Amino acid sequence: MAGMVEVTNLTKYYGKFPAIEDVSFEVKRGEIVGFLGPNGAGKTTTMRIITGFLPPTSGTASVAGYDLVDKSREARAHIGYLPETVPLYTDMTVESYLGFMGTIRGMDSKRIKVRTGEVIDACRLGDYRRSHIGKLSKGFRQRVGIAQAVLHEPDVLILDEPTIGIDPIQVVETRQLIKDLSGSHTVILSTHILPEVSMLCNRVLIIHEGSIVAEDTPRDLANKLQGVERLEAEVQGPPAEVAEALGKIRGVREVDIATDNPNHNIFKIQARRGLDLRPTVSRIVVNNGWSLLNLQLVSMSLEEIFLKLTTEEDVDA
Ligand SMILES: Nc1ncnc2c1ncn2[C@@H]1O[C@H](COP(=O)(O)OP(=O)(O)O)[C@@H](O)[C@H]1O
Ligand SMILES: [Mg+2]
Repeated sequence: MAGMVEVTNLTKYYGKFPAIEDVSFEVKRGEIVGFLGPNGAGKTTTMRIITGFLPPTSGTASVAGYDLVDKSREARAHIGYLPETVPLYTDMTVESYLGFMGTIRGMDSKRIKVRTGEVIDACRLGDYRRSHIGKLSKGFRQRVGIAQAVLHEPDVLILDEPTIGIDPIQVVETRQLIKDLSGSHTVILSTHILPEVSMLCNRVLIIHEGSIVAEDTPRDLANKLQGVERLEAEVQGPPAEVAEALGKIRGVREVDIATDNPNHNIFKIQARRGLDLRPTVSRIVVNNGWSLLNLQLVSMSLEEIFLKLTTEEDVDA
């Protein structure tokens, strides 16, 4: 089956400023995908387009096979959205707010009643059903936000920084709630906190300055962060011999041949952190009588992005 969420060449300009550019990805049913990126990366913009709140400048987004521009209504029926700031009505009770949200989504009153009870239980809001939203802590308001997102039983949940600004105990509980919900939903969540993606996601898309710069499992991401230096060397020479010679350099952990040319290849070299092997690589290539067409450190941009991410949590971990 095609992806539950499909995003193709999505671009959004605010005036002349490109907030996201040429973003493409796919999320399959049941996946839990994290958008990881520093502030201003374009996470919210991407989510607002996928949820139909913002039209793209170009490119397409679809959910459950429905295009967000052409079939917005159908698409949105499959989406539950926790925006960055939830427009909660502070003078409503939890129960009446959920009823209201059900009504504007066109649910009938019987289903609203059943589902309100179910989501109040699922989000552990039972003690607060008649509390005014304005009286709730930020963490509980966030749960109300999640409750409204799942009310109409959408296939896909889009959660924009679901744990931002709430106290550490509530963070733990909110993550648990997301984990529980992820069993029955496809989830995309955004965060600028690294440990959060490891806890919740199967796959991470790293967004920086409006583009997806890397895609990985949380585990491989952690390995990368622990630090290898990456080099790419474009060499003219017999591939197997070149790879073998590069692999023998002290500090090199792995050499992959990234292209498939008979006599001219890009070799991806992973080395121990802190080593700049460029001089050694160029010497070895030249000493063997091969030609070095290009040699660059590739880890730098990713490293820079990681430095901007919150790698540790403030209190709990
Ligand atoms: N309504 C807007 N008008 C102009 N620029 C915006 C608007 N919303 C966001 N931006 C800019 O677009 C970029 C991406 O923002 P956003 O999608 O909110 O990123 P993130 O959610 O990753 O922090 C930022 O540089 C931000 O300043
Ligand atoms: Mg944001």
